[in-house]
Amino acid sequence: MKKESWPSGRAEGCFSRNTRCQLLLLIWSTSAVMIGCNGVEMTCPEECSCRTTFDPEDGAAVRVACTRGGMRVIPVDFIDRNAHVIIISAPDERQNSLTIGPIFTQPAPFVNLRELHIVNSNVPSIGQYSFWGLQNLMLINLTYNNLTSIGADNFRGLINLTDLHLDHNNIEQMPSETFRHLTSLRTLSLSNNQITTLVPRLFRMLAKLFYLDLSDNPLTELNPEVFKDIQHLRIFKCRRCLLRRVNTQIYHLVANLEELDLGENQFKYLTSDEFISLKKLKKLKLDGNQLSVIVDNMFGRNRELRVLSLARNRLALLAPAALANLTNLAHLDISHNKIDRFHLQTFAPVVDSLKTINFSGNNLVLNEIAIVLQILPEIHGVGLANLSLTDIPLNFFTYNEHLVALDISWNKFTNFPYKLLTKTKFLQRFDISHNKLQTLSELDLQRLEAIAQVNLIKNTWRCDQCSAGTMLVYMTTTVLNATLRHLKCYSPMRLRGVNFSEMTFDRLDPCPTTHEAQMSVIAGLMLVCVAVLAAVAAALCCTRRRAAHYYTNEEKRREHEHEHPDELLGHTELGSVATIHAPYHLVSKGS
Ligand SMILES: *[C@@H]1O[C@H](CO)[C@@H](O)[C@H](O)[C@H]1NC(C)=O
Ligand SMILES: *[C@@H]1O[C@H](CO)[C@@H](O)[C@H](O)[C@H]1NC(C)=O
Ligand SMILES: *[C@@H]1O[C@H](CO)[C@@H](O)[C@H](O)[C@H]1NC(C)=O
Ligand SMILES: *[C@@H]1O[C@H](CO)[C@@H](O)[C@H](O)[C@H]1NC(C)=O
Ligand SMILES: *[C@@H]1O[C@H](CO)[C@@H](O)[C@H](O)[C@H]1NC(C)=O
Ligand SMILES: *[C@@H]1O[C@H](CO)[C@@H](O)[C@H](O)[C@H]1NC(C)=O
Ligand SMILES: *[C@@H]1O[C@H](CO)[C@@H](O)[C@H](O)[C@H]1NC(C)=O
Ligand SMILES: *[C@@H]1O[C@H](CO)[C@@H](O)[C@H](O)[C@H]1NC(C)=O
Repeated sequence: MKKESWPSGRAEGCFSRNTRCQLLLLIWSTSAVMIGCNGVEMTCPEECSCRTTFDPEDGAAVRVACTRGGMRVIPVDFIDRNAHVIIISAPDERQNSLTIGPIFTQPAPFVNLRELHIVNSNVPSIGQYSFWGLQNLMLINLTYNNLTSIGADNFRGLINLTDLHLDHNNIEQMPSETFRHLTSLRTLSLSNNQITTLVPRLFRMLAKLFYLDLSDNPLTELNPEVFKDIQHLRIFKCRRCLLRRVNTQIYHLVANLEELDLGENQFKYLTSDEFISLKKLKKLKLDGNQLSVIVDNMFGRNRELRVLSLARNRLALLAPAALANLTNLAHLDISHNKIDRFHLQTFAPVVDSLKTINFSGNNLVLNEIAIVLQILPEIHGVGLANLSLTDIPLNFFTYNEHLVALDISWNKFTNFPYKLLTKTKFLQRFDISHNKLQTLSELDLQRLEAIAQVNLIKNTWRCDQCSAGTMLVYMTTTVLNATLRHLKCYSPMRLRGVNFSEMTFDRLDPCPTTHEAQMSVIAGLMLVCVAVLAAVAAALCCTRRRAAHYYTNEEKRREHEHEHPDELLGHTELGSVATIHAPYHLVSKGS
């Protein structure tokens, strides 16, 4: 059959080749819409839309979608018995109130049904044998209902079911062996329910289970016993489960785990052998806990680890060997902790693999970050938000040639870092939102034009003709249209909150008068004097301080020697490759 689709009540193709439809029409012709097609009919309930799609693998599929809401019964008699996919859902403000018994199996089962979605419909319970005979059903989606308990009889006969989604219900009760008829099940999602305990043998017969999501349930602890039945698990999530610790016997049982998400729980510490069994772990999320330290060799046996999030904990320290053996780590998020310095050795194992690192929201000064970045040549993305930055030195990313994403939002930039950006040739995502920029010059705008994704919102944009005039021109003539039209004026007061999209040159304030301009020049000169004095003082200071360097890439160093960030790092000691002088203190040693 060729690829076809049509909205409710319009016929352009056909697939139902029985005469039962005609019979139905005769009986219920008031509420059923007949679709005639080359002399063959199928039905589609009035409140639904029916179409056929074509997939090279599965062939033609009849999809019935009833999504307007306000439904009290599923118009199952008017749904084509050959339907492959049925979607019943509702907008939030017009939810359905449905019950489901064996409606899809009697009088004759929907033998072709592959996917059944009944969502946002206040379904209170499933009923026994509701899906009996639906041998081809692979996916059931009952999310956003009002289920409070489920049991084995609900799922009898679903021998081919691979995906069961029950998240966003009120499930409290699940007896042992609830899923014992679902021997093909691979994905089980129970997140956002009221589950407090996992009873023994809960997951019996789920030997093929691959993905389990228990997030947002008040579990407080995980019973190791239940994991005996799901030893092939690859992805396990239990975010916001009120967990304080996990019995490590669990990890021993599900040793093939590749992804573990325990974010936003209440872990205060992890033992150094916590994850020792998880040798295949690729992604680990521990963000939003209360960890205060990551000890040496914590992930020594997790050599496959690629993604590690430790954001939003209370970390003051990553021990010198905290990342030992993580030679495949590509993404590290340590944002929103209390880190104020690093041991350079910490990063030694990841120098060749790390692609993104997020330093945002720590107590870090730029020097501490600079010395880490210079040993990470592969870095593509850097997060430097919420660090109270006012500026970034010109050669900050000298060693990070591949930088494509930079986040410096939520800082205190008053000037656009134009010169810095001329050095980051490959930048494609740039976020400088939530700063104190007042204007962008023509050069700034030209640089931004070459960056695919730019975020400039929530700055203190000044809407006078000198400051915003050029920006308005760029808004109407360049690719920056979408970026600029969302900005809002911050000053003068009378224009505060006005969107750039509704701004015209005439509405802008005139440029400041010459007197004001002179005053600001004088003020500027005074500032420069102060800055020069400060710089001289700082330079004097620096010469009295010793600092250290660590290089992993001798060639790269040579290449960049001429533009080395000396002034940033203080005195440089061009030592041999592996020499590490730590701990590293750049900021005033009280000389
Ligand atoms: C469903 O299971 C039955 C019995 O095991 C089998 O014959 C049939 O091919 C299966 N259908 C699918 C789509 O796997
Ligand atoms: C469940 O159905 C809702 C509404 O149709 C849909 O948004 C959601 O993606 C579905 N979930 C799955 C896992 O198919
Ligand atoms: C959901 O079920 C609970 C308990 O059975 C009931 O009190 C509540 O009214 C139901 N909510 C809706 C929206 O039907
Ligand atoms: C690092 O991995 C090697 C090889 O798997 C292992 O022998 C060593 O003990 C690991 N290091 C740590 C600190 O666990
Ligand atoms: C940290 O930055 C990375 C990308 O650099 C981003 O994916 C992640 O969401 C950020 N983390 C937080 C907590 O903002
Ligand atoms: C910066 O901090 C603020 C306030 O804590 C927070 O709302 C915001 O999400 C943070 N932004 C980033 C990118 O970390
Ligand atoms: C800018 O975007 C708006 C809304 O997306 C659009 O209406 C307008 O035509 C665009 N202007 C230019 C010059 O592309
Ligand atoms: C400004 O634009 C935003 C979206 O870009 C819109 O939601 C908002 O209503 C606009 N504000 C005014 C005052 O027009």
